[in-house]
Amino acid sequence: MDFIRWIPIFHILLAANLFLCISQNLKTEAVRHQDSRHNVLFIVVDDLRPALGCYEVSKYITPNIDQLCSMGIKFSNAYAQQALCGPSRVSFLTSRRPDTTRLYDVHSYWRHAAGNFTTLPQHFKEHGYHTASVGKVFHPGKSSNFNDDQPYSWSEKPYHPSTQAYKNSKVCAGPGGRKYSNIVCPVNVTQQPEATLPDMQSTRQAMQFLRDRARLESSPSTAPTAPFFLAVGYHKPHVPLKYPEQFLDLYPLSTVPLASNRHYPEHMPLVAWNPWTDLRDRDDVKELNVSFPFGPLPDDYQRLVRQSYYAAISYMDDQIGHLLSSLETQGFANNTIIILFGDHGWALGEHQEWSKYSNFEVATNVPLIVYVPIIAWSRFARNRLQSVEKTKLLLERSLFPYINPLLPPHHSMTSGARRESECASGSDRVTARCVRKGGRQSNVLVELVDIFPTLCDLAGIPRPPTCPTNSSAIRLCTEGRSFALVIRNSDSRLLKNHTWVKSAVFSQYPRPSNFPVATSDQPRLREIAVMGYSMRCTHHRYTEWIGFDKNMFRGIWSDVRARELYFLDKDPGENHNQAYNKSHATFVAKLAKQLRYQMELS
Ligand SMILES: *[C@@H]1O[C@H](CO)[C@@H](O)[C@H](O)[C@H]1NC(C)=O
Ligand SMILES: *[C@@H]1O[C@H](CO)[C@@H](O)[C@H](O)[C@H]1NC(C)=O
Ligand SMILES: *[C@@H]1O[C@H](CO)[C@@H](O)[C@H](O)[C@H]1NC(C)=O
Ligand SMILES: *[C@@H]1O[C@H](CO)[C@@H](O)[C@H](O)[C@H]1NC(C)=O
Ligand SMILES: *[C@@H]1O[C@H](CO)[C@@H](O)[C@H](O)[C@H]1NC(C)=O
Ligand SMILES: *[C@@H]1O[C@H](CO)[C@@H](O)[C@H](O)[C@H]1NC(C)=O
Ligand SMILES: *[C@@H]1O[C@H](CO)[C@@H](O)[C@H](O)[C@H]1NC(C)=O
Repeated sequence: MDFIRWIPIFHILLAANLFLCISQNLKTEAVRHQDSRHNVLFIVVDDLRPALGCYEVSKYITPNIDQLCSMGIKFSNAYAQQALCGPSRVSFLTSRRPDTTRLYDVHSYWRHAAGNFTTLPQHFKEHGYHTASVGKVFHPGKSSNFNDDQPYSWSEKPYHPSTQAYKNSKVCAGPGGRKYSNIVCPVNVTQQPEATLPDMQSTRQAMQFLRDRARLESSPSTAPTAPFFLAVGYHKPHVPLKYPEQFLDLYPLSTVPLASNRHYPEHMPLVAWNPWTDLRDRDDVKELNVSFPFGPLPDDYQRLVRQSYYAAISYMDDQIGHLLSSLETQGFANNTIIILFGDHGWALGEHQEWSKYSNFEVATNVPLIVYVPIIAWSRFARNRLQSVEKTKLLLERSLFPYINPLLPPHHSMTSGARRESECASGSDRVTARCVRKGGRQSNVLVELVDIFPTLCDLAGIPRPPTCPTNSSAIRLCTEGRSFALVIRNSDSRLLKNHTWVKSAVFSQYPRPSNFPVATSDQPRLREIAVMGYSMRCTHHRYTEWIGFDKNMFRGIWSDVRARELYFLDKDPGENHNQAYNKSHATFVAKLAKQLRYQMELS
C-alpha cells in the first residue's frame, strides 16, 4: 500500500483547532535559509502512561501538553513493545521488535548482539537532517554502547543533564530532618545539588539548541541550513518521583483517588505478576515492611505515590511548555512536526501493582500525540484561495502560549474556553473538525514500532521497507507500519478503512520463572525462562506465557505456562481473566493460533 507523498506546494495550517489554507509556496516564502522540509521535535517521556489532561479531563493538570493535543491528533490506543525503558527505546528507535533487537534487559548493544540496524535519527541524518539528542532518548549505558549510538545516530554530541548523577542520592526530606533516597520526593530545588533538576537542564539545553539554529538560519551569509531532528527525552515521571515541591499544591491529598481495582485479577496466573522491586528498594517503602512478592502497599502510601506521580507529570508538562513556547519564539512552530509519547506505561496501584514490568494495559498503553503544522491533503488544495486574511491572523497568533500550571485553574480554563468559542463561531467546515477541547482523536491501534515509518512519511523522506522474517543482515527495514494516513485523514469514513488500520498490536515481557521472584521485574537475558506474548485487539487482550529459548531468541510455543484473556469492553481494568472459561475455549484456540502466527512472522 502506498500513497502519494506530500509535495510542499499548498499548505494547510493546523492551529488553534482550525485547518486553513494558504496559497503560498514554502520554497518561495521561506524567510530563513532553511530548506523547505519540516523539522522534527521528538519528545519521549519516561514511564508516562496517558495521565494527561487531554486524555483524562479533570484528573491531571497538564495545560501545555493539552494545547499540543488541541492542535494535533492524539492516539488513545498506542502501545509499547515491552514495558521496560531500554528494550522499548531500542525497539522504537530501530523500528524492530525485541525478538529482533534481542534486547529484553539493558545489557547488550543491538549492533553487536543482533544486527547493524539503522536507527530513526540515523535515517534522518542520512537524509540531510541535523540530528541532536538531549536527555534520555536512548537508554544510557550498554544498550546504546555507552555513547548514545554515536557516531551513527547524532550529528552532535548527545547531551545529558549533569544532575542525573544524583538520581539515587539521599536528597529527599524525611523523619528526623535527615535526607533519604525515597520514591516520594518533593524537593526545594534551590537546595538540590547544583540547584537544579535534570529535566530543567534538558529544557534549557533544548532551548539553547533552538536559539542556535534560529541564529544560524538568519545569518545572511550561510547557505540553506539543514532541517533539524531534535530528540528530547524527559526523565520524569520515572522514579524517584523527585520534583519541585510547589507542584504538590496542584493535588491536595484528599482529592487523590486510589485505584478502583486494588486486587489481583480473578484467575490471574502468577507469572503475569510483577513484584515492583524498584519501589521496594527505596528508603521510604523499605520502612513499610511490605511483604514480598505481593504486598500490598498500605492505602495511605498508595495515595502518596499517586499524588507524587501526578505532581511529577505537571512538572514535566511545565518543562514542555517552556520548550514549546521557545519553539514558537524562535520561529519554528509553523514548520516543525512534533511527536510526544511515553516509552511505556506505569501501574498506579491497579491490581495491587506498581511500576511497569508487565503486559497489562496500564503498563503497555502510552499517550501519543502528533502535531503536523502544515499538511498537504488534496481535498484542501481545492480550497486554497480561500481566506488569506484568516491565515495571516493565525500566523500572528501565538501557537504555543506557555501556561504555568501553578497559576489558579481559571487561567488555563479561560484559554480553553476561548478555543472552544472560536470553534463554535467558525464556518461549518471548520466547526466539523472541532471536537471538545479541540484537536482530533484516533482510536486506531498503533504501536511504537510504527513511529519510524510514520515520521518518514510526514517529513517526506524515504520510508524503510518492511522487514522480512529474518532481518538480522538488513540494515534498514521496519517491523512497523506507517500511520501517516490516519494523521492526514480526518475523514472518519476513511479512518474505518481496515485495509490500512491494524487489527492487533503486540507487546511482550520476559520472566525468570512462573512464580514471582526478586528478578521477575528485570530478568537478565541469561535468566529468562518464560516470555509473555500479548496481543491487543480492539475488544480484547490475549496473552500467552510460554517457555523461551534464550539462545535462539524465540518462544517455545509447545510449552504454554499460562494464558490470559480480558474482554476490554466489559472489563477495561482487566480484572477477570477469561482464558480458562470453558465457554471461550474455541475463541482462545483461535487467538492462540493468531498470536503464534504473528510472532513467528516477525
Ligand atoms: C554499520 O552500519 C554503518 C552505517 O549504518 C556503517 O557505517 C558501519 O560500518 C557498519 N558496521 C559494520 C560493522 O558493518
Ligand atoms: C528553599 O531553599 C532556599 C535556600 O535554602 C530558601 O531560601 C527557601 O526559603 C526555601 N523555599 C521554601 C519554599 O522552603
Ligand atoms: C518494620 O520493621 C522494623 C524492624 O523489623 C520496625 O522497626 C518497624 O517499626 C517496622 N515498620 C512498620 C511500619 O511496621
Ligand atoms: C513561519 O513563521 C515565520 C516566523 O514567525 C515566518 O517568517 C514564516 O513566513 C512562516 N512560514 C510560513 C510558511 O508560514
Ligand atoms: C538469519 O540470517 C542470518 C544471515 O543472513 C543467518 O546467519 C541466520 O542463521 C539466520 N537466522 C535464522 C534463525 O534463520
Ligand atoms: C481503503 O484503502 C485502500 C488503500 O489505500 C483503498 O484502495 C480503498 O479504496 C479504501 N476504501 C475505502 C472505502 O475508502
Ligand atoms: C464464562 O463466560 C460466559 C460467557 O461469556 C459468561 O456468561 C460467564 O459468566 C463466564 N464465567 C465466569 C466464571 O466468568
